[in-house]
Amino acid sequence: MKLTSSGPWELVAEDYDRYLTPLFGPFCEAALELAGVARGHRVLDVATGPGTLARAAHQRGASVCALDVAEGMLARLQERLEADGVRDVEVVQGDGHALPQADDSVDAAFSMFGVIFFTDTDQGLAELARVVRPGGRVVVSSWPPVTKSPMMHTLSQAVTRNLPMGPPTPEQLPLNSPVAIRAALAQAGLEEIEVRRVVVPSRYESAAEAIDRFTRSAAPLRLLARAMGPFAWRPLRDAAVATLEEEHTFPLTLDLPAFVSKGVKPR
Ligand SMILES: C[S@@+](CC[C@H](N)C(=O)[O-])C[C@H]1O[C@@H](n2cnc3c(N)ncnc32)[C@H](O)[C@@H]1O
Repeated sequence: MKLTSSGPWELVAEDYDRYLTPLFGPFCEAALELAGVARGHRVLDVATGPGTLARAAHQRGASVCALDVAEGMLARLQERLEADGVRDVEVVQGDGHALPQADDSVDAAFSMFGVIFFTDTDQGLAELARVVRPGGRVVVSSWPPVTKSPMMHTLSQAVTRNLPMGPPTPEQLPLNSPVAIRAALAQAGLEEIEVRRVVVPSRYESAAEAIDRFTRSAAPLRLLARAMGPFAWRPLRDAAVATLEEEHTFPLTLDLPAFVSKGVKPR
């Protein structure tokens, strides 16, 4: 399911922040390292969500602008900034297809699991390339296909196998392989492309915890739960928990792999 409006992101913002943000630190560290972000760099984080990358870049001394289309996500970021006493991160609501930034105005532009959900991913990449200065870096992160992601495959299968209509054909998100990433970054006019596979382990104490965390933070499943209503959703959720308990031993650790990729704007 392609999430083309901010609505689904508003729906999951709180649980996304609670359950997924804690996993994403290593992806952000890899991204910052690939871009070589240091004190004084101007950094733009597009589709910032709760701002994991933006906050990590700020901690490195960068001057940061964080942009997202969803107010609920930006509210989570604002809460975290206030809790940390940070006042100098610029937070902007906007559309990554048409960034407000001027050409060549930042040293590094990021989109962590962001442009892959845009209506037009190529346009999102073109905008990142436009605003970065010559010699500056664009870094994006993306997911491999669900079947190659132990966490997403195991948990989504446990749910979809129990759907009355059977499992849907999994959607193929853009930038889901090194070949696709290289082609898209080159098409955006970027050079010196580098793709890294970064794996984060996700640990669950029980099947119920795994299913609840996953279904509450994944926008397509939240939409499904809402469409089914609580009386139809509850037996499906319980069946998914039973499926996991039958097939796995808890505590269970499942790997979550992602691609973190860099391109450089020609001088
Ligand atoms: C999977 S979340 C990623 C959030 C964050 N970068 C992270 O790594 O946790 C996708 C984000 O893309 C944002 N988004 C989707 N379409 C967008 C658009 N056209 N412009 C800006 N942000 C968008 C959503 O609101 C959501 O916060």
